[in-house]
Parts: sequence; C-alpha cells; structure tokens
Amino acid sequence: MAGVALKFSAPWRFVKLRSLVRLSTIPSLQFHTTAYPLMGATVEQFEQAKGRLSILKNDPGNEVKLQIYALFKQATQGPCNTPKPGMLDFVNKVKWDAWKSLGSITQEEARQQYCDLIGSLVAAEGGSSAQVAAQPAGSGAAYETLMVTTEDSITTIKLNRPAKKNAITTEMYNEIITALEQAAKDDSVITVLTGAGDFYCSGNDLTNFTKIPEGGVEAMAKRGGDLLREYVRAYIDFPKPLVAVVNGPAVGISVTLLGLFDLVYATEKATFHTPFSQLGQSAEGCSSYTFPKIMGNAKATEMLLFNKKLSAVQACELGLVTEVFPDSSFQSEVWTRLKSYATLPPNSLALSKQLIRATEKERLHAVNEAEVERLIERWTSDECFNAVMNFFQAKAKL
Ligand code: COA
Repeated sequence: MAGVALKFSAPWRFVKLRSLVRLSTIPSLQFHTTAYPLMGATVEQFEQAKGRLSILKNDPGNEVKLQIYALFKQATQGPCNTPKPGMLDFVNKVKWDAWKSLGSITQEEARQQYCDLIGSLVAAEGGSSAQVAAQPAGSGAAYETLMVTTEDSITTIKLNRPAKKNAITTEMYNEIITALEQAAKDDSVITVLTGAGDFYCSGNDLTNFTKIPEGGVEAMAKRGGDLLREYVRAYIDFPKPLVAVVNGPAVGISVTLLGLFDLVYATEKATFHTPFSQLGQSAEGCSSYTFPKIMGNAKATEMLLFNKKLSAVQACELGLVTEVFPDSSFQSEVWTRLKSYATLPPNSLALSKQLIRATEKERLHAVNEAEVERLIERWTSDECFNAVMNFFQAKAKL
C-alpha cells in the first residue's frame, strides 16, 4: 500500500491500511509454524492472504479495513478482552468496537473469514483469489480431489485425479457438493466444472463398490444412494449459470448430469458414454428425464440402455452439447468466451437461469429420487456385482 493516497474522513482517517499491514507482520502475532493445516484456513493460506493485502491497489474503504483489522486480531489473539478505550480515543475505540463485535467466533473461523475477505478484494481488482478459495470455508480441510479457483468472476471446480481419469470417489462426491455450495454463495458470476489431464471424468469410481461397510452390501448401497441423491440435488438446485468444460472423454454420471448444466462446451476429442447396462446398473443424474427431453426417446435409449458412445459432434447434433471446439484452441476459445459472459449482470443471469429451471425443478427432484431408489436395488444385484468384478479382473490381467 505504500505510496497509495488513502482518503479518510474523521474519525476513521487514522485507520490506515498500511498500519494494518504492518500490524499483521509483527512477529509476536505470527504463528509459530506453517507446516500443519488448522481448522478453517490453513496457516499457509492465512499468511498468503496477509501478503496479498499489501498488493491491493484500491482503498477498500474504512468499514472493510476495520473488518480486516478485527478479523486479524481475532485470528491471532482470539476474542477481544482488552479494556475499552476512552470516549475521546476515537481511533482505538472504533477498532476495539470492530474487534469486540466478532464476539466469540473461533480463531479458525476468523482466519477463514479473513482469507475470504482478502480473496474477494483481490478478485474484485481483477486478480486471482485462487489460493484463498482453494479451501472449503469452515470445513477445516483443503480439497484433496479438486482444484477450486475463482478468477475473472468465474469459479472453476476442476476434478483433479488425472491418473484415475478423474473417477469420482466418495470423498470427491462430498468435495464437489461442498465446492458447489461455496460457489453458489461466492461473488462469482459463472461456475465451471472441468477435468484435469486428458479426461473430463470416467464416472463413478468403481472401487466405491469394493469398500463394503459393516452392514454389508445393503448398507453400502443405502449409503451410496444417500450420497448420490445429495450430489444430484446440488446440481438441480444450483442457482447460477453452470458450465461444463468437457476437456476429454466423459463417462457415466459425468455425462448424465450434463442435462442439468446451462452450457456444455466440448473439445472435439471428447466422447460421451453411459455404459450402465454393461455394468448392471441404471441411469442417474436425472438423465432418464433430461435425455429423452433433449434428444428424443430413440436416441436417449441408444445411450442409456444400449451403451452407445457419442462423439462430441454427435452429442452436439443431439443437443446434449452446446458447441464443439477444435482441440488445439479449445481452452483459449472457451475461456475467452466465458470471461466475456462473466461480465454480464450477475443477477440478471442467475434469475434468468432460475426462471428456465423453475418449471421443472420439482420434477427433477422426483426423477432423482426414483433413479436413486432404482440404483440402490441395482447395486445389490448380482448383475452389478459381476460387472464390477469383471472390470477389475480385466485390469488385473493386463
Ligand atoms: N473407477 C475406478 N478406476 C478407474 C475408473 C473408474 N471409473 N476409470 C479409470 N480408472 C482407473 C483405472 O483402473 C486405471 O487405474 P490403474 O492405473 O491403477 O490401473 C487408471 O484409472 C487409468 O485408466 P485406464 O483404464 O488405464 O485408462 P484407459 O485410457 O485405458 O481407459 C477408461 C479409460 C475410462 C475408458 C477405462 O478406465 C474405463 O472403462 N473405466 C471405467 C469407466 C466406468 O465404467 N465408469 C462407471 C460408469 S457408470
């Protein structure tokens, strides 16, 4: 902040951002270790957020600066227990009030809020809040299976298990639900789902079926059903424009959910495959409703019953994909487009999306419920058990 002229009106004029930056570098207020993650933001993320404060170009205003000050004090020292400054000590009095107003929120929570606040300020200046957003607020753990970033008003949720073709484990389902919940609340205008590496996603991780809990296969199926129901719900209820950037082949649930996205951009190398009957399973992701609606019964049946794999161009012709791009320019073309869309008025976009979906929302929830019930039964069937075993046996023979 050095060199930036800040204008304050009395009595706030003394609450200088520079002094807050200095405050956050006092050694006695620093944490003794950065090696281990704490609940809320990690110490590392907190340190990064502190560093980012000093690169802010614009004065965020007195109210925000007081909030930053208060959160910093709460994060490093805990709740305010110092004596109240005298009436005439204006500056210290407003700072004390701000700190005191945080009540008994934990240091962890304060650290997270501090990171979120700095992240949103950096993002508002056109920078990346990636580091700050890379952690589910209040969840206490960084994402293990995702990379979540917010940049240019776009929150990107990137599936990050490229070695397993981004197959979705139980942990990953839970993390995606959390990331969607966060994205629904953050300042971004558009949310994107994409995959790391050469695959978009290879669907449900089949090892999920091999982790049989104490209650046996029935308990596994029931638990899986509850998670699936919640997972699909997160898409049905997502309030902002949701975009799939399909960077490679897509399998199973990563395909069936596409009917719940608002835009689907695909590289020409992408394919779309739902081999449910091969696996003794049945359709999910509301595809038993959205696919016939999008492409007609005949084509939906070919995909959902008879495992027909579509090329990107075929999927586009059937209306499942919005647009196909050459692989060589896929990323640059898609992100240029999305960045420009993200400058449109956010409320107008979100409200229009909600209008489009409102008429079928109840229906989608009912379809989700029916599909989950069917799958709970399928997951306990011999057909499914044998198909999953075959997959792993075939792998073992290679
Ligand atoms: N569940 C669990 N593991 C998976 C997986 C899935 N859905 N998809 C890929 N993997 C794993 C593979 O077992 C392999 O693991 P390994 O390296 O430990 O052997 C790794 O990811 C790479 O996959 P591989 O099969 O070697 O790559 P590929 O390019 O030859 O084939 C797929 C990729 C996706 C076509 C193939 O892995 C596949 O058919 N996966 C199953 C897809 C599926 O049926 N999903 C459920 C739909 S309902």
